[in-house]
Amino acid sequence: MTATTLAIIGGTGLNHFPDLEIIARSAVDTAYGAVAAPLTHARLNGRELIFLARHGDDHRLPPHRVNYRANLWALHAAGVRHIIAVTAVGGITPAMAPGVIALPDQIIDYTADRAHTFFDGPPNSVEHIDFTWPYDASLRQSLLRAADSLGLPVQPKATYGATQGPRLETAAEIRRMEHDGCDLVGMTGMPEAALARELDIAYAGCSLVVNWAAGKTEAVITMDDIRQQLDSGMAQVRRLLTTAVGLV
Ligand code: HPA
Repeated sequence: MTATTLAIIGGTGLNHFPDLEIIARSAVDTAYGAVAAPLTHARLNGRELIFLARHGDDHRLPPHRVNYRANLWALHAAGVRHIIAVTAVGGITPAMAPGVIALPDQIIDYTADRAHTFFDGPPNSVEHIDFTWPYDASLRQSLLRAADSLGLPVQPKATYGATQGPRLETAAEIRRMEHDGCDLVGMTGMPEAALARELDIAYAGCSLVVNWAAGKTEAVITMDDIRQQLDSGMAQVRRLLTTAVGLV
């Protein structure tokens, strides 16, 4: 693998990654439209990679407005073969408390109305990707080994339920998702993971739980509470990524 084939997609709470040693920033346009932010070519822990802020540098794009195809295509065109994608999520099942870092191994897609495929008919051929295991096993192992070596507790498996947003869910929606087998709920996991697979890019998620999902506590979910969890939790996510990139 050449040095620039790894990318980190930063989500809510990780628009900027102060530990990066920036080499260059390149604004990219694609046939699918504008990329959320310039690609940041950088070094982290001695490893060259590309960082992309999913929602834009200033976090201006809500999850349903992110141009996932443009973001993924830009990374693909830059030669990226591996992506670690950071997401902030709500916790549904008991082990997924706020502050937990989880490495999802499955996903259920509840999103709607998103441009979700590169295989959209003519002029392209009809293609159906295998998506039995949406996250790349070897990249997941790199994250797990990094967590181990840091003594950082992570949940090694979780099913991520991807919702449309931008509103949070109702208590009944979360009950249904739990019944479906979801451990986490977030708004950006799809179609990103599937688009990566369509481009044959190895993709792993790293999810920080920032609140209990709707109906899991009596408390109203506030952006202030979420922001507090983001501040402390993303510091741990950055530690994890800094070690993991050396193991990919
Ligand atoms: N629901 C959906 N997306 C989220 C949540 C949530 O509770 N928390 C963070 N992202």
